[in-house]
Parts: sequence; structure tokens; C-alpha cells
Amino acid sequence: MKVLMVCLGNICRSPLAEGLFRQKAEDNNMEIDVDSCGTSGYHNGEAPDPRTTDNARKNGLDLSMLRSRKFHASDFDTFDLIYVMDSSNYANVKALSRSDSDMEKVDFLLNATFPGENRAVPDPYFGGENGFQEVYDLVNDACEQLIQKLSS
Ligand code: 4NP
Repeated sequence: MKVLMVCLGNICRSPLAEGLFRQKAEDNNMEIDVDSCGTSGYHNGEAPDPRTTDNARKNGLDLSMLRSRKFHASDFDTFDLIYVMDSSNYANVKALSRSDSDMEKVDFLLNATFPGENRAVPDPYFGGENGFQEVYDLVNDACEQLIQKLSS
């Protein structure tokens, strides 16, 4: 099983989702490959935003080794499940899809906790410090639900 988390810059939301999902998979002895990327490539090769890494560290999660990369159409071949953070990410991923079966792999991450609502993980990049814990809690709960579902 291979899971991909997608946001815009791959420095705030999706690296956090990658780290949390990997940690939970390991805690549950599940063999799942997890990666993340951004639809923009604005921050290619960069470590996550320091506000994201600091907040994650406060919650016991180390994201410092992750590096940003851009989403590519070949990711549809590599990954079984692709989770986007918001509708803009969804549209960008859809624009690169080559078939209906590509898009069958794609869902909103928060549909794990709010089924069918296509809710966004708010982008904390331009907001204040509080946004990072709010994002952490939303992503943590969604990853927990996904892990429970995949392990049952
Ligand atoms: P992310 O946040 O998509 O959660 O990584 C953003 C990071 C960078 C930018 C926008 C959103 N940016 O415009 O550079």
C-alpha cells in the first residue's frame, strides 16, 4: 500500500500528514509507504516551514528530514491512495489525471473525519501561529481514522 499526501507548497500541511500517517502506520505495525508533495513546486527541495516543524516537534513528531517536491502525473501510477488538503489541490491534481481510474485514487483528507463534505485543511502559511495547532489536530484526527479503516 502506497499513500500520497498533497497540498500546494509541500511545506506545511502535506508534510505533516505524511509524518503523522507514517508514525501511526508504524505504531500499528502496518507496511505502508507514505510520501507527500505539492502541486506548485514553489518550494522544491526545501525542508518544511519552520512553524510546521516547530509545532510538530511540540507534539512529538520530527519532520526535519522531509523535503518538498512537486506532484507529477506518474504519481498516479506509483500510489494507491492520494489525499488532497483542499479543492484547489484537487483541481490541480485532476488537471494532471489521464483517466477516471486515476481520479478514483484521489480524495479529500478530511473526508475521513467529515464524510462527503470535501472540507479543506485550512492553509496556515499566511496565518498566525494558532493555525498550525488547528491544522495538526485536523490532520491527526483524519490520519487516525484512515489508519483505523485500513487496519480493520
Ligand atoms: P502548504 O502551504 O500548501 O500547506 O505547504 C503553503 C506553502 C507555501 C505557499 C502556499 C501554501 N506559497 O504560496 O509559497
